[in-house]
Amino acid sequence: MNPKQLAGEKAVEYVKSGMNVGLGTGSTAYFAIQEIGRRFKNEGLDIRAIATSIESENLAKEWGIPMATFADVDHLDVTIDGADEADPQLNLIKGGGGALLREKIVASATKFYVIVADERKYVPQLGPFGLPVEIIPFAWEETFRQVKALGCMPTRREKDGKIFITDNQNYIFDCDFGLIADAYKLNDQLHSLPGVVETGLFLDKTDVLIIGKNSGELEIHHKKG
Ligand code: A5P
Repeated sequence: MNPKQLAGEKAVEYVKSGMNVGLGTGSTAYFAIQEIGRRFKNEGLDIRAIATSIESENLAKEWGIPMATFADVDHLDVTIDGADEADPQLNLIKGGGGALLREKIVASATKFYVIVADERKYVPQLGPFGLPVEIIPFAWEETFRQVKALGCMPTRREKDGKIFITDNQNYIFDCDFGLIADAYKLNDQLHSLPGVVETGLFLDKTDVLIIGKNSGELEIHHKKG
């Protein structure tokens, strides 16, 4: 089985009837949403969901999964999302798909945060993927200079030859900081810039990391302590 499918479907074991569920974004979370959809349709799984992107919301709606908003629910019991990198402390880089802001808001409202990934995503130290940073379009050139001054050469993300616009009408800078020695410090430095909306560093949030391997096995890492 595709390692992403293996991980995505395994994570759905954490989803029980009566829960408010966060639905992640990307090609691994896709398999979790599909599995939730199948269980909703065939097994009467009774949940309400909030999606981290328009794409994931549309997929959930295709299955008829009941969708909620934060006007309806004040927490999420479990969220299943993907990642671009995860380290042994279960800190993450996310945002490869451009959904990092909604993903981080959803993560912040979540009691039990499950990350699904294939084995290529598990790295000893965060950084090689590059760090996506969501910024507001106003004065993006100045924000570019400020981010660059922190020690990277940002690239304003494009898609199909056009500026990539997030679901929140913002831009993404993809920032190559090399291996990130102090993710907490870098996160704080980026957050201190007024044009930065959010970073792709997800620190101290993950409860379980489920890794699907090419061998067909699963590797499960739990938060320490
Ligand atoms: C979306 O912005 C990202 O954070 C995704 O969660 C991430 O890119 C998922 O990667 P996969 O598509 O490889 O699961």
